[in-house]
Amino acid sequence: MIVIMGATGNIGAKLTKLLLEKDQKVRVIGRSQERLQGLVDQGAEAVIGDAADPDFLAGAFKGAAAVYTMIPTNYAAPDYRQYQNEIGKFITAAIEKSGVSHVVSLSSLGGHLPDKTGPIKGLHDQEQRHNRLVGVNILHLRPTFFMENLFTNIDMIKNMGINGGHIRGDLAFAMTATGDIAQVAMGHLLERDFSGKIVRELLGPRDVTLNEATRIIGEKIGKPELKYVDFSRQDYVNGLTQAGLTEDMADLLAEMSAGMNDGLLGTGLTRTPENTTPTTIEQFADIFAQVYKG
Ligand SMILES: NC(=O)c1ccc[n+]([C@@H]2O[C@H](COP(=O)([O-])OP(=O)(O)OC[C@H]3O[C@@H](n4cnc5c(N)ncnc54)[C@H](OP(=O)(O)O)[C@@H]3O)[C@@H](O)[C@H]2O)c1
Repeated sequence: MIVIMGATGNIGAKLTKLLLEKDQKVRVIGRSQERLQGLVDQGAEAVIGDAADPDFLAGAFKGAAAVYTMIPTNYAAPDYRQYQNEIGKFITAAIEKSGVSHVVSLSSLGGHLPDKTGPIKGLHDQEQRHNRLVGVNILHLRPTFFMENLFTNIDMIKNMGINGGHIRGDLAFAMTATGDIAQVAMGHLLERDFSGKIVRELLGPRDVTLNEATRIIGEKIGKPELKYVDFSRQDYVNGLTQAGLTEDMADLLAEMSAGMNDGLLGTGLTRTPENTTPTTIEQFADIFAQVYKG
C-alpha cells in the first residue's frame, strides 16, 4: 500500500490517479472527505486529518510500503518558514514512528540552498531534517517552477489585460508540468529503486522566458496581444498583499523571484535524460486555456 499526502493537490491528485490505474492500493490523506471522494470513487482509501497532528500522520503512514510526503502551501501562515518547519517536523516524526522504509519527499530546485530562495528555504530545512533519519530511504524530488503557477495570474489577465510578476520577462528558466512530476514520483514509489538519501531534479523539456510563455498562452486564449510586464519588487509585493497574501509570503515570493533573476535558481542548468520531463509549454498552454475559459 502506498500513502499520498496532499492528495487533492496539484501533484497528489495526479499521482493517486496514476497509481490507481496501475491497480495499486492507495491511501490518500486530506482534510475533507468531500474533496477526497472523487479519488475514493476510483478506489483509494481516504484518511481524513490534519498534517499538524503528528499522531494522525503516523497512523496514516503505518503499514505503507512507500509514502509520498509534501509540506502543503499555507498562504495564511504569518511566518511561513516557521509553519514549514513545524509541519516538516511532524512529517519526519511520523516517518520515524510508522517505520516506513521508502519516502518520496517533495522538495524543490534550490533545496540545497539555505537562503535567498523564499518559500524554498523551508524545503531546504526539511531535506536536512530528513537526511538525519537513520535507516529510511528518502528520495528528495527537486522539481523546478511549476507551469501551473501561471494559473495564479488568470485574474490579472482577465482584469488588467496583462501577465506580470517580479521574475524578469526575458529570463529563460526551467519550468515543469506537475503531471510529469507525478509520473516520476509514481515510478519511484512503485519500484522503490532508491536507497540512502538521494536527490532528483526535474527541469521540464527546455528553458522558457515568461515573455515567450505569455505569448504562447495569449494565442491559446484568444489574446495574441497579451504581454508580460516586469513589476518592481515593491509593486509586486503590494499586488500580492492586496490580493490577500501575508506580508511574509509576499516577501518570500519576491525573494525567490529576485533569486531567479540573479541566476540562483532554474537558469543555465544542463539537461540529462534523468532531469528532463516531457510536457512543453505549448502543451501546457492547452490546459491553461481550458482552465482560463472555465
Ligand atoms: N509552485 C512551485 O513552483 C513549486 C516548485 C517546487 C516545489 N513546490 C512545493 O510544492 C508543494 C505544493 O505541492 P502541490 O502544488 O502539489 O500541492 P497543493 O496543490 O498546494 O496541495 C496540497 C494539498 O494538501 C492538502 N493540505 C493542505 N493543508 C493541509 C494540512 N494542514 N493537512 C493535511 N493536508 C493539507 C490540501 O488538501 P485538502 O484541502 O483537501 O486537505 C491540498 O490540496 C509545496 O511544498 C511547494 O513549496 C512548489
